[in-house]
Parts: sequence; structure tokens; C-alpha cells
Amino acid sequence: MSRHFKGKHILHGNQFSQQDLEEIMAVATDFERKVTSNEIPLLMKGRILATLFFEPSTRTRLSFESSMHRLGGAVISVASAETSSAAKGETLADTARTVSQYADVIVIRHPRIGSAQEAAEAASIPVLNAGDGAGQHPTQAILDVYTIKKEVGTLGDITVCLVGDLKYGRTVHALVELLRLYHTRLIFVSPSSLKMPQEITKNLREKGMTVTETDDLKEALKSADVLYVTRIQKERFSNLSDYEKIKGSYVISDELLRDLKKEPVIMHPLPRVDEITTDVDTRPGAAYFRQVRNGIFVRMALLAMVTGAV
Ligand code: NCD
Repeated sequence: MSRHFKGKHILHGNQFSQQDLEEIMAVATDFERKVTSNEIPLLMKGRILATLFFEPSTRTRLSFESSMHRLGGAVISVASAETSSAAKGETLADTARTVSQYADVIVIRHPRIGSAQEAAEAASIPVLNAGDGAGQHPTQAILDVYTIKKEVGTLGDITVCLVGDLKYGRTVHALVELLRLYHTRLIFVSPSSLKMPQEITKNLREKGMTVTETDDLKEALKSADVLYVTRIQKERFSNLSDYEKIKGSYVISDELLRDLKKEPVIMHPLPRVDEITTDVDTRPGAAYFRQVRNGIFVRMALLAMVTGAV
């Protein structure tokens, strides 16, 4: 059923059709059912995943590694640029060629936009982009869409409000490409210096999407079915005083949500710093830790599909 993903790289949110997404989500749903009933589908027994993380990560790396283990596969990893041959000046292409001899699939995170594409061109095995600088983060976007579908029931006739650092946030850059396939209504809420890159917004509008840009979170909240909160990406600022000026611009608190007529589903790719106060965590709409769990099923699906194991 999923044969056409075999050998494919996962690099950018714009590479998918709606049918692709539905197919990935169907496989993920099947894995969710199996994992929840304590079945271990040993589809990847004898196969090896290499995780190459040249930027900090807790969730994405452990999520991929956990997914591979849940499929019965093994994991090898490079945990930082400092401890790998990148520190000796090896190119990413040579690293990708080398790792292709050791593993069946590569997951890479790197600070440079386009790095995953570069690795994919040199590799002879599938490469999954786990974040290329301020570029893309397609596997996160797929688990986000999977979460919205589970929480709200549909991706179509709803309004998703993205708030925070829309300029440097790679998760939202990838997510809007997927929501485009469902014509989801979008509201972008950010400080004016952290707006969604113009070429992305322009492209969405050209494709017929309803996109509203504002800095007024309270107003946007009135019509949001989903509130997708992002961290201000401190590490992408060249000038830290610019970061200091806008950090804490939008804080989602219990008080802010309490009087809403309809509470949105609240999502966040995590890590959070101060954008969502912990008193929100017990609200029924707080979906961010459920979102983390969904990541396992979606990544199991992606690993199994690109290696042809399913
Ligand atoms: C995000 C990332 O690394 O882009 N985290 C993640 O992968 N879940 C978001 C962030 O770091 O703010």
C-alpha cells in the first residue's frame, strides 16, 4: 500500500499531496493502535537508523530513536558536531556518504537551511529532515496535522492560529504547507519583526488560502479552533538585544483562556520557555503532551514507509 514512499527522502512540507498525508496518517493510526495494545511490530528488525544531530534536541531525537526501537530496529547516532568528524572539517556530503554504509535510514538536524537536502543528494539511503536551521521540519508538521485531526476531528473547515516566532520557526514553515492541502483558515499572530516570511504568506494566498496577519492575540483567539504556540527562537537572532525586546511578547495563561466562549486545542512543538504558563497544562484543550506522544506513531510510520518495511 505504501510502496511509493520506499527510498524517498522527507525534506520539505511542500513535497506531499493530500493523499500522501492520508496514507502516512493511516499507517500511523495502525501503529498507534498496536503500541497502545502493547504489540511490538518487529517490522524493522535487523535494520539500522542513524541519527545525526548537529543542533540541540530532546524530543525529536528521542522520538525517532524510540520509534525505531518500537519497530524492533537499532539506532546509531552522532549527538553533536563537536564529537563528530564535522569538527575536523568533513563536509556534510561525505558524512552522508559514510553513514549510508552503516545504516538503512538517516535522520538529520543541522543549523543550515538546505542541509538536509545536501545530505540527501549525497546519501544512498533515505534522509529525513529533522530541522534545517530556520528552514523546515516536515516530520514535526506531519505529527502536528495528525494531532489536529485527532483533537478536532477534521483539518478542513477550521481556523488554526499560529502564534510567536513565525519568522524563524521551522515547525510552522512546514505546517502551513501541509494545512494548505486542506484549505485550513490561518491566522498568523506575531510581533512585526517575527512575521511569517513574505514568500510563504504570498504563496499561500496565491493558492487560495485565507490568511490573516495580526499582532492581536486576543482578537485572534475568538475564532481559533487550534492555537499553535511557538518559542521565540533565541538561537537564530544575530543581535541578542533584539531577542530581549520581544521575548515574552505572547504568553498563554489560564487567565487568558478562562473566559473564552470556545476553548481552542492548544499545541506547541516544545520546548516551551515562557510562552505557555504551567497552569494551562491541566486545561482540557492543552494537547502539547498528547502531541509528543503522537510523534512516535507518525515517526514509526515514516521510518517504516521510506525503508519499505510496510
Ligand atoms: C522545535 C524545533 O527544534 O524546531 N522543536 C521540536 O523539534 N519539537 C521547536 C523549537 O525548538 O522551538
